[in-house]
Amino acid sequence: MSSMSETMRLGASEVDLTLRVNGSARRLRLDSRVTLLDALRDQLELTGTKKGCDQGACGACTVLADGKRVLSCLTLAAQCDGREVTTIEGLARDDELHPVQEAFIRHDALQCGFCTPGQIMSAVALLAEGRAGSDEEIREFMSGNICRCGAYPNIVAAIREARGF
Ligand code: FES
Ligand code: FES
Repeated sequence: MSSMSETMRLGASEVDLTLRVNGSARRLRLDSRVTLLDALRDQLELTGTKKGCDQGACGACTVLADGKRVLSCLTLAAQCDGREVTTIEGLARDDELHPVQEAFIRHDALQCGFCTPGQIMSAVALLAEGRAGSDEEIREFMSGNICRCGAYPNIVAAIREARGF
């Protein structure tokens, strides 16, 4: 596995790095200023992760890095060298959706769907963190994910169901 210390610097600003995305090692050479969001969407064609504000305010770009939520628009790809990155494309197993994806569908927790990948990635992390003990807690720890369509009640209901109690 490569690491930042092993990252080979090329010229003024290019870096070689390896992202472990959804279980696959992906080698990239890119400008050191490229965000994780742009690397995922533009280099790896994983366009499930959405670019909303591109400045850390909406949560549409949320992915997991080593299991923790990060805003990929505020994270440099180079900071993720050697780390495990999970995107919405990596949640399903074969033909089986992740339970949070299933719950979002069952509860109609989306309208236009633009915020949905970020909402689901946040919800997956929220459940893993054990921060979904009540509706208030769900709302608080999902507050970084904005939904312009106002699907919040259904999103909370979906997370409550996925929590399983
Ligand atoms: S696109 Fe990253 S927080 Fe809005
Ligand atoms: S479903 Fe449209 S922004 Fe959330």
